[in-house]
Amino acid sequence: MEKSGTGNKQGTARRSFLKKGALGIGAAAIGAGFLAKGSPAFAQEHEGGSLSKGDVDILQLLLAAEIIETDLWKQYRELGGVEVANNPTFQPYVNGLLQLDGDMPQYISDNTDDEISHVAFLRAYLKSKGHEPINLDKFAHNLAPSSVPGVPQTGRLTNLKQLKVDTSWWTRYRSKENVDLGAPAFPQAVPSLNEGQHPAIPATLADLSDANHAQAIANTAGFHFGFIEQAGTSLYATLSQRVSNPEVLRITISIGGAEIMHFQVWHDKAGNAVALTDNQPGGTLTFVNLAQGQPESLQANLIMPEPTDFIKGLPEVSIIRPTGAGQLDATGAIKGFIEDGLFIGQPKELQQFLLNLAAEADEARRES
Ligand SMILES: [Fe+2]
Ligand SMILES: [Fe+2]
Repeated sequence: MEKSGTGNKQGTARRSFLKKGALGIGAAAIGAGFLAKGSPAFAQEHEGGSLSKGDVDILQLLLAAEIIETDLWKQYRELGGVEVANNPTFQPYVNGLLQLDGDMPQYISDNTDDEISHVAFLRAYLKSKGHEPINLDKFAHNLAPSSVPGVPQTGRLTNLKQLKVDTSWWTRYRSKENVDLGAPAFPQAVPSLNEGQHPAIPATLADLSDANHAQAIANTAGFHFGFIEQAGTSLYATLSQRVSNPEVLRITISIGGAEIMHFQVWHDKAGNAVALTDNQPGGTLTFVNLAQGQPESLQANLIMPEPTDFIKGLPEVSIIRPTGAGQLDATGAIKGFIEDGLFIGQPKELQQFLLNLAAEADEARRES
């Protein structure tokens, strides 16, 4: 995509969530006044009735996952979003992101908006059904932000300075084997990213003083975006199978669909990571050019899901995966976030809280 994409959009994120929310309510109110009951407009309205314990547990876990996503995406937006893409201090990082795609800053800002909307919606939905939404407020400001001048100096929930990024989703989606049917773990696309600890945002001004290092941080972010969103993709699909209420199912497959869209975008961008070697305190990082001379298990432009084994006795099919128990279900997704390093520096209490929420969500079963 052309690199001029950010040029005329500086400071104007595609969507202002609050503005759009206010307009949405107004339009709905006007519409409701003019339409007779039973018209399609009313099909959009809330269903009455209470939710099963399983449905509430699933929604609470998904809310926690969305709060985590929102916190990390906000950090990416502060340093690489369209609103700051012209900030001269951030240029080495922004330039690194632009190597992955000329529209990266816009996509980062929009992904952030989407996560904010997911949190606001799930909170409001739980409240509308008489349930107090969980919150992570106690942990939300425990971690120091990036010290790069221009970044708001407020504490954070998630760590993006020392990550171990699992890049096996890359080879999983290029394989005909399926972990849901017992395939062994898939190899890493970028083995050195899954060892040691690496920054995905510039933690200090010093991180921006060397273009190669800044590019390595941007490359790391590119693969981390894919890692996060493939987890959301599988998480929603896995938990949707245990939802009982049709409206809750509509919510989980609809928000889950947005996670799939995020994943697909980032899957495409990560393959443009620039080949380099960077000696970091947390270990040497090596990126190879995935666009040239690679086997199909690594080839950058093979971003459509390779048809895979799915249901025994039936043909291979192109699908998102995994979607079975014991993989990227609630517990699997939270464990993945923990192993990623997102909660380094947080008290163990946070991990335990999340794992307990996940265990409850994984116990949910569809009730007729
Ligand atoms: Fe989300
Ligand atoms: Fe997401």
